[in-house]
Amino acid sequence: MVDRTPSSKDVAGKEVSAATLAVWAGEGESLVQGATQVPIVYSAAYGYPDVESWLDVALGRKPGHIYSRNTNPTVHAFEEKVRILEGAQAATSFSTGMAAVSNTLFALLAPGDRVVSVKDTYGGTNQLFLSFLPRFKIQAELCETTDHEQIEAAIAQGCKIVYLESPTNPTLKVMDIERLAAAAHEVGAIVVTDNTFATPINQNPLALGSDLVIHSATKFLGGHADVLGGLLCGDPKLVAQVFHYREITGATLDPMAAYLLIRSMKTLALRIRAQNESALRIARWLTEQPAVAAVYYPGLETHVHHDVAARQMRGYGGVLSFMLEGGFDAVKRVLPRLRLAHRAANLGAVETIAGPPATTSHVECTAEEREAMGIPEGLIRYSVGIEDADDLIADLTQAFEGT
Ligand SMILES: Cc1ncc(COP(=O)(O)O)c(C=O)c1O
Repeated sequence: MVDRTPSSKDVAGKEVSAATLAVWAGEGESLVQGATQVPIVYSAAYGYPDVESWLDVALGRKPGHIYSRNTNPTVHAFEEKVRILEGAQAATSFSTGMAAVSNTLFALLAPGDRVVSVKDTYGGTNQLFLSFLPRFKIQAELCETTDHEQIEAAIAQGCKIVYLESPTNPTLKVMDIERLAAAAHEVGAIVVTDNTFATPINQNPLALGSDLVIHSATKFLGGHADVLGGLLCGDPKLVAQVFHYREITGATLDPMAAYLLIRSMKTLALRIRAQNESALRIARWLTEQPAVAAVYYPGLETHVHHDVAARQMRGYGGVLSFMLEGGFDAVKRVLPRLRLAHRAANLGAVETIAGPPATTSHVECTAEEREAMGIPEGLIRYSVGIEDADDLIADLTQAFEGT
C-alpha cells in the first residue's frame, strides 16, 4: 500500500514517479472514515470544544481549519497534490489562475518596485503589467520574449520580481528558466514562473531555480474544461505572504472545484503523455501543409529555442499554434470547418480546442497591440485533446481543403 503522505521517495526506497504521485499524493490527511476518495467538505467554519484547542489551531500550534476562506480539507488535498508534483515546500490555491497571478504580484510588490517580464505573457497577466500595476507606481519592463540578453540586461538594472512564462501563450516561445533565474538571483530578485502550459509532468521550474510556480488549474490540471482554479507553490516564506493576502482578498478555491481538480489530476500524467505525443505529430504534419505559413511548437527541431526546451522539458506539451496563409480571413474560413474542435477560449482539455488570439488569450488587446507583441492575426491556437491523432489530422485536412 502506498503511503499517501507528502513524500516523493517512499515506496521501498524507490523514488515514486510523477504518474504515481498524481494518483496518490496529498490525499492522506483529508480522507475520513475509510473513504478512498477525498470528501467535498462544505463547511464554512470548524468548531472546537474549548477555547484552548481552538487557540492551538488559530495560532498555528496544531494543524486544523478555522474558516474555509482561509483553509479547507478538500482544498488542502488539492494544494498538497500539486505541491508534491512540483517538488515545492509550500502551496496555496486560488479561485482562478488570474487570482493566483494577481494575488502573487500584489502581495509581493510595493510602490516603487520594478518587475521584469516579457511581451507575450498570457493576456490577462500582460494587462496587469500594463494597466493595473502602474496605478500603484509599480513599473513592469516587458522585454522581447526570446531575447535573453535583453532580459538579462533589464534584470541587471535591479528589480523585485522576474516574471516568466514558458512555453508562452499563444506563440509557444521558450524561456531559459535556469539562465534567467541565475541572473535574477544576482540582483536578489524573486523568480515567478507560470507553468500552466508545461504542467509539472513536463517541467518543474523550481528545480530550474524559480522561487515560485503559478498554475492556471483551469487548463491541464483540471483537464476537462469544467472547473476554474489557480495555484501558487514554492518558497514557504513567499507562499505564506501570498496566502495571507489571499485570506484577506478572499479569492479562495471552492471545495467542489478542488474535488474536481483532485479527481482530474489522477489522470494528469496519462493525459499529458497522450497530448505531448499527438501535438508533436500534428505539429510535424502541419509543417508540410501548403495552407500553413508557420508552425509554433517547442518540440519542432526548427523552433528557435528547441535546445532549451529539450534541456528543461520532459515533453513539449499539448498546445501548438499555426499561422494560416491568408491571415485572419483564412482563420475565419477554417475554424468553422473543424469538426473535432471546440471553438472556445480555453485550452488543456480532453477535447481539442481551437481559436485565434483575438478571441482567446489576447481578447483584451487591439490588433495593433497583438502585432506589437509578435502575435499575428492569422494565428490559430490549437490545444490538442486526447482524441486519436489520425482523426485530428483528418479533421484538419478537410478543414484546409479549398482554402
Ligand atoms: C498561461 C496562463 N496563465 C494564466 C491564465 C489565467 O488563468 P484563469 O483563466 O484560470 O484565470 C491563463 C488562461 O488562459 C493562461 O493561459
